[in-house]
Amino acid sequence: MLQTRLTEKLGCKYPIVQTAMGWVADPRLVAGSCNAGGFGFLAGATIPPAEIERDILRVKELTQAPFGVNFHMYQPNAAAIVDLVIRHGVRAVSYSRSPGPEMIRKLKDAGVICMPTVGLPKHAIKAVELGADVVTVQGGEGGGHTGAVPTTLLIPQVVDAVGAKVPVVAAGGFKDGRGLVAALAWGADGIAMGTRFLMTAESPVPRATLQRYVDCANPAEIIVSRAMDGLPQRMIMNELLGELERAGTLRKLWIALRNGMAFRKHTGASLPGLLRSAIAMSSDGDMTASQAIMSANAPMIIQKAMVDGEPSRGVLPSGQVAGVINDLPACAELIGAIVAEAEERLAMLAQRAGAGV
Ligand SMILES: Cc1cc2nc3c(=O)[nH]c(=O)nc-3n(C[C@H](O)[C@H](O)[C@H](O)COP(=O)(O)O)c2cc1C
Repeated sequence: MLQTRLTEKLGCKYPIVQTAMGWVADPRLVAGSCNAGGFGFLAGATIPPAEIERDILRVKELTQAPFGVNFHMYQPNAAAIVDLVIRHGVRAVSYSRSPGPEMIRKLKDAGVICMPTVGLPKHAIKAVELGADVVTVQGGEGGGHTGAVPTTLLIPQVVDAVGAKVPVVAAGGFKDGRGLVAALAWGADGIAMGTRFLMTAESPVPRATLQRYVDCANPAEIIVSRAMDGLPQRMIMNELLGELERAGTLRKLWIALRNGMAFRKHTGASLPGLLRSAIAMSSDGDMTASQAIMSANAPMIIQKAMVDGEPSRGVLPSGQVAGVINDLPACAELIGAIVAEAEERLAMLAQRAGAGV
């Protein structure tokens, strides 16, 4: 009942995608999602370049199932990631800013499924023109960088715009079988979830930080802020976010520089490399130079919470759905429950339709 164009293209059992989340989507989480019948993406944008190949191989050790890698076309090692993906037969790549036509051509020629995430119908149309095989569309309630239009309004619009050409995956606010059935009813071919997979037993996020996600019981406390990198990003309100929201330009710049340098050390990127990425990002048109520099600061601040386990000193990217989740199931338990609930709801709807109700 749950076979769609998406399961066919990705080679997974269920139309359920575990999205890439910086610092979070590591080999264990990816393998956990894939072994449970979903399709997981490794977060290639925050893994140090020297460790990407090791992590790809680690996923392959932990699962026989196909999986994907996420990357950011402006990260200094983007071309190297594309080569690794092709060399190791990775099934799909995801990205939020389309790589140039040459890179897309290279990936497609090698049979890699190109699966961008978009936040507006016009971006979906552009992505398909550029060669996307599948489009993930994220509504405003979703975690991390996000738009202003809610999933309920966006999904049908994007399905109408590109759904006849490519499978559309609905993201932003999903956590259960009811959501999966709703997405299928809108005409999507599956769902993608970040926050729900962050809150699983396989999540590498330290317990102290995970507890902040579990304790958050109000979706309205998971706000959109531009304080991190100038772009709208959804996060759980905490001590640091409150401070960043109040900080003046100088203090923000200081935080940006301090963390930008630390990120450079972590990724091994050279200073000119970092600056080149910032300039390339800003010349893309929708980001100012200062926002681009600020964006160098974001990964290290996120790392404080997601890796170091200091939830009040880092920020907590999250979808609003964390406000209605209070457990940490294993991926197999989670996907099993979603599938069972979806099948039950579909059967119920079919019965209602048969009875003319
Ligand atoms: C902690 C966290 C980190 C994220 N990091 C990334 C990232 O590095 N790259 C990316 O394309 N999307 C990132 N996202 C967005 C997710 O991939 C996904 O689109 C989003 O979480 C879907 O909404 P949901 O959280 O309501 O499921 C992140 C989201 C979260 C919650």
